[in-house]
Amino acid sequence: MLSRQIAFVGLILAALVLGACGGGAPGGTTATQAPQADVALGKAKFEDVCAACHGKDARGIAGLGKDLTTSQFVKSQTDDQLLAFVNKGRDTSDPANTTGVAMPPKGGRPDLTDDQIRAIIAYIRTLSK
Ligand code: HEC
Repeated sequence: MLSRQIAFVGLILAALVLGACGGGAPGGTTATQAPQADVALGKAKFEDVCAACHGKDARGIAGLGKDLTTSQFVKSQTDDQLLAFVNKGRDTSDPANTTGVAMPPKGGRPDLTDDQIRAIIAYIRTLSK
């Protein structure tokens, strides 16, 4: 009996939550559309975290980080692959390492979230030549 009541309350809550989302705030995303990564946020985060090695203009700093604007690697990867790459970094023991310098996971900032990294990736795409 009690479990039935709980299930009923659960149903009402679910309906409320769905109703709230379905309403769609102005500028919000619909269920079928992936949220747009925020390029402005990505720029700020890039300059905060990645620029230390890749340069503010993403053109790379010799001995620290590679040019991302002309990177074939960046062009060849999907956003999901780049997200995985940034999360993992590229250690010097990685066969894919090309410079003998390590890129730390998340550029050394473990507090970066996937959403923030996706925003950074969206920003890098705008610089890609
Ligand atoms: C501490 C320095 C450092 C920081 C901070 C850093 N990187 Fe890197 N990154 C590197 C190095 C070094 C490489 C090159 C590794 C190699 O030799 O292949 C690299 C490579 C890359 C590549 C691959 C480029 C290619 O053509 O192979 C991408 C993409 C990249 N970094 C993105 C980022 C992003 C995005 C951030 C910020 C979240 C970031 N990096 C922060 C040092 C850094």
